[in-house]
Amino acid sequence: MSRLDVFINRMVSQRACLDYAIDATTGMGGPVFELGLGNGRTFDHLRERMPEREIYVFERKVESNPASTPDEDMTILGDVRETLPQALKRFGPTAQLVHADLGGHNLEKNVLFAKTISPLIEPMLAVGGLMVSSDRMFFENLTEQPIPDTAIQGRCFIYRRDI
Ligand SMILES: C[S@@+](CC[C@H](N)C(=O)[O-])C[C@H]1O[C@@H](n2cnc3c(N)ncnc32)[C@H](O)[C@@H]1O
Repeated sequence: MSRLDVFINRMVSQRACLDYAIDATTGMGGPVFELGLGNGRTFDHLRERMPEREIYVFERKVESNPASTPDEDMTILGDVRETLPQALKRFGPTAQLVHADLGGHNLEKNVLFAKTISPLIEPMLAVGGLMVSSDRMFFENLTEQPIPDTAIQGRCFIYRRDI
C-alpha cells in the first residue's frame, strides 16, 4: 500500500468516524474538544457540521490555514500533557465529543504518546460522550465502538463512556 493510499484511508476514516460521532452526540450538550489543530481541516469539518456546539481546540503551536483557525478564546495553547489536566479542572467530566489527531509519522512514538494521554482524556468525557482518535487509545473504562462501514479498520477508533 502506497503512502498515498495510507493517507487517503486515514482521511476517509477520519471523516466517517467524525460524522458518526457528530450524529451520535447530537443534543447532548457540553463542550467539544479538538486535540491537535494542525492545518485545521478536521476543526473546519467539525464547526461546519455542528455550528451550534462549542469547540475548544488544544494545540501547542497554531500554524493552521487562516480560513480554519479557531478564535483565541476557543484555543487552549500548550502541550496537551499539561493543558488536559487544567481543562479537566475547568470543565469537569462534561465533554460530549473529543477528537484527537496528535500523532506523527513515528508509530512507536504514537503508541507511547497514546498511552500517556489516555488517562488524561478519559475523565473528561460525560456519560454517553464519544472519543474519536486516529490512534488506538488505552482506556480503562471507555468502551471501543464499531467504526462505520465506510471507515478502514485500524485507521480510526471510537470509544464511548457508558458509566
Ligand atoms: C496531524 S496534526 C493534526 C491535523 C488536523 N487534524 C487537521 O485536520 O489538519 C497534529 C497536530 O497536533 C499537534 N500536537 C502534537 N503533539 C502535541 C502536544 N503534545 N500538545 C499539543 N499539540 C500537539 C501538532 O502541533 C500538530 O499541529
